Amino acid sequence: MVIIEPENNFSSLKTQLLVNYVFTKDVSSLSLSKVTPDFDPIIGEIIESKEFTAKDGTMCIIHNKVGSDIKRVLLLGMGNRENLDTEKTRNLIGKVVNKAKELAISEFVLASFDEMDEDHLSAIVEGIKLSDYSFSNYKKDEDKFELNQVRILTRVDLASNQKVIQRSSIISDAVNLTRDISNLPPNDCSPKDLANFARKLSANKKTKVRVIDEQELEANGFGGIMAVGKGSTNSPKLIVIEYSGSPQDEKPVVIVGKAVTFDTGGISIKPSDKMEEMKFDKCGGCNVIGIMKAVSDLDLDKNVIGLIPAVENMPSGSSYRPGDIIKMYNTKTVEVLNTDAEGRIILGDALSFAVKTFSPRVIIDMATLTGAAIIALGSNVAALVGNNEELVTKILEYSNKTGEKIWELPLFEDHKEQLKSSNADIKNIGGRSAGAITAAAFLSHFVDDTPWAHLDIAGTAWNQEGTREKTYNPKGATGFGIRTIVKYIASYNAH
Ligand code: BES
Ligand code: MN
Ligand code: ZN
Repeated sequence: MVIIEPENNFSSLKTQLLVNYVFTKDVSSLSLSKVTPDFDPIIGEIIESKEFTAKDGTMCIIHNKVGSDIKRVLLLGMGNRENLDTEKTRNLIGKVVNKAKELAISEFVLASFDEMDEDHLSAIVEGIKLSDYSFSNYKKDEDKFELNQVRILTRVDLASNQKVIQRSSIISDAVNLTRDISNLPPNDCSPKDLANFARKLSANKKTKVRVIDEQELEANGFGGIMAVGKGSTNSPKLIVIEYSGSPQDEKPVVIVGKAVTFDTGGISIKPSDKMEEMKFDKCGGCNVIGIMKAVSDLDLDKNVIGLIPAVENMPSGSSYRPGDIIKMYNTKTVEVLNTDAEGRIILGDALSFAVKTFSPRVIIDMATLTGAAIIALGSNVAALVGNNEELVTKILEYSNKTGEKIWELPLFEDHKEQLKSSNADIKNIGGRSAGAITAAAFLSHFVDDTPWAHLDIAGTAWNQEGTREKTYNPKGATGFGIRTIVKYIASYNAH
């Protein structure tokens, strides 16, 4: 769908729409004579009348003469050249995609610009593929419009650019796969359904998928996952996805994702307002599916394990209760004081299972864990807590490249104190203050000394109240974090 071509000869170009990038500084001398001399008089008028200023995201469409090979030119305002960054590129390309769809144009061509390096090229591909997403499986296709092809013109090194496009396409497709699963309604996405989606990953011969079911969880002491899953007729699962891209003796990166397919809060039930949004409480786990898909499609030479504890948190006669004391996989006991703080409980089991089974090089977990993360950082920034400076620094570094905003929160002994219980080793809530951090403090009890980073994506996993609009994040789940973590996995040095 995204193709790259050399930009040399506009005279042989045929397209419905040619997109031309224009920076504010260049607008007064704008000429399209290399495309076709016919445009220039009109452009002169458009510029003089200030109809087009080239400010960020402004657009102007000019039609060519009837019967021309290039039917229209779109001038795309890029604003100040100095302020250009990949996030802007991603957003503006998304705007073009939306415009093309609005005009029922199924194909367009993007001209090149001087700054078009690898990062911008990636951003262009992401802008195209991520903005073209919509979740429409459940709607009769009244006005579904398909974008078939985008050609990107490039001035230099076609072969290496082709690679960049291929890589970005794989990652964007993985994000869209995750969105498709994350957006599913809870009646069509039980822990078992999730396991079946994950099983499809084993189509790649380096990937093995194993699903640990209720009986096996019970028999092996996964007291946390079992407790949270007890209240639902949809039984809990622990999904294990193993990708072997490197010899066996190389320690893997383990990615863990919270998948509560629906979070009612359980016996500590949530208010009904916006409860439907808790179908997105599986987003961390769905991200893991996307990450493993990208890792295997990229054929990375790393060992990567994906772990998804999947449960439905329901109130019923068989639910776990406030006051229960449960024994976790690593034998620590937890006093449950609120059944709505369930994510940390299932993650605790998965994290200690990871440590024990795989001796990971690093563990990264992703979870829609706390409303408190939204209170702290809003709905556009994810919270990061970790125990290893190098790992945290790397994640923040890649987050700057992907536009997935992440901010580190501290984890001090003082925070861990808040989890002291008079009846068990720890309790599952730490009081109102520093809620996002005490949730992470809970998780820290299950990783031992393994380098570990925790991403609280409660605010960023889907478009919600307070989310800033981005053209490449259409409504519903975003797949936030996948691009950053895949970049991290792809570039760490395993040897
Ligand atoms: N899944 C929620 C967190 C959440 C809330 C994510 C809103 C996104 C939007 C989580 O399981 C939860 O309920 N957390 C509680 C913890 C509290 C009981 C300590 C919360 O944040 O209120
Ligand atoms: Mn909850
Ligand atoms: Zn939850």
